[in-house]
Amino acid sequence: MARTSGWNTTAAIVTGAACALAGAALAGYLLSGRRPKKRTKIIEMMDELQKENVHIRDPERVEKLLCQLIQDGKSKLQIITDFDMTLSRFSINGKRCATCHNVLENSSLVPESKKQILDELRDTYYPIEINAKMTIEEKIPFMMEWWTKAQSAIVACNFRREDLTRAVRESNAMLRDGCDWQFHTLHEHSVPMLIFSAGIGDILEEIIKQHSQMYANMRVVSNYMDFNHDGMLVGFKGDLVHTYNKNEGALRNSDYFTTLKERRNIILMGDSMGDLRMADGVPNMQHILKIGFLNDNIEERLEKYKEAYDIVLVSDDTMDVPNAIMKKIL
Ligand code: C5P
Ligand code: MG
Repeated sequence: MARTSGWNTTAAIVTGAACALAGAALAGYLLSGRRPKKRTKIIEMMDELQKENVHIRDPERVEKLLCQLIQDGKSKLQIITDFDMTLSRFSINGKRCATCHNVLENSSLVPESKKQILDELRDTYYPIEINAKMTIEEKIPFMMEWWTKAQSAIVACNFRREDLTRAVRESNAMLRDGCDWQFHTLHEHSVPMLIFSAGIGDILEEIIKQHSQMYANMRVVSNYMDFNHDGMLVGFKGDLVHTYNKNEGALRNSDYFTTLKERRNIILMGDSMGDLRMADGVPNMQHILKIGFLNDNIEERLEKYKEAYDIVLVSDDTMDVPNAIMKKIL
């Protein structure tokens, strides 16, 4: 009695909790007749990877990759990521969040006649984009059509540069939970981040500014709008980036990758099979960890995603898994 009376309440609670855990482990041991499995691997020790929505086809490979990325550290690391539905959120309370294009399409500045055209385009082409049976080659002509027709309709809406801020503010486009921490932390540790998007560059930058911050370590490759001297939208600049030609865009940006040639380890994040080609221009790549967000048409696509991505996150509106991995490396 004399010994226990000296304990403070916190210690008692902590010890009580530890005892409860030990008790539960003992009960498990007695019931199963087996010793509780000791977690020795990184992928076993990371709680974020134990969740049911996390799919890893080849745990040995992921374990090895994580060990290598951690061992090489932040000076060898760069991040290459998609934007729409990867950095940005797919849904909130069961409702789809806006892509960059949707921000403009749903804006109150777009006349009804144009809205109808843009809605019809989405209803026609989005099912093709996520179709699990078609090959990328079969999809490409349809994607070209979608992007070209949508861009023409958007240009015909007479948007002005200053309208973008309002359109983003009025939309439900938002970043995945944990993006703000990720952006801030990568910047703090000087790890470069390439955002490679088939969305609209001006809109994605505005979404990031309104919900987090654009940092100096971020570089964006996307479809940028072309405004005339009066600030009126007159077209889009440069080569078109759609979901399935990111490999070509990656090669066009080989200068960027060359400046980062010492950073041979990559964490790639995407939500489409097209995103897997975003690192095509990286010279001397050593290790690449591919993290895929599977948001839609899940049952049909899960097997293919597991083949292609090292880690697949199903219906996960957070950055918990990538952030936990980055924390270990930084
Ligand atoms: O950033 P990311 O490469 O993901 O951007 C492309 C996304 O934009 C596609 O997943 C596509 O569904 C969407 N999109 C859209 N409306 C268009 C064209 C593309 O919502 N007119
Ligand atoms: Mg995407």
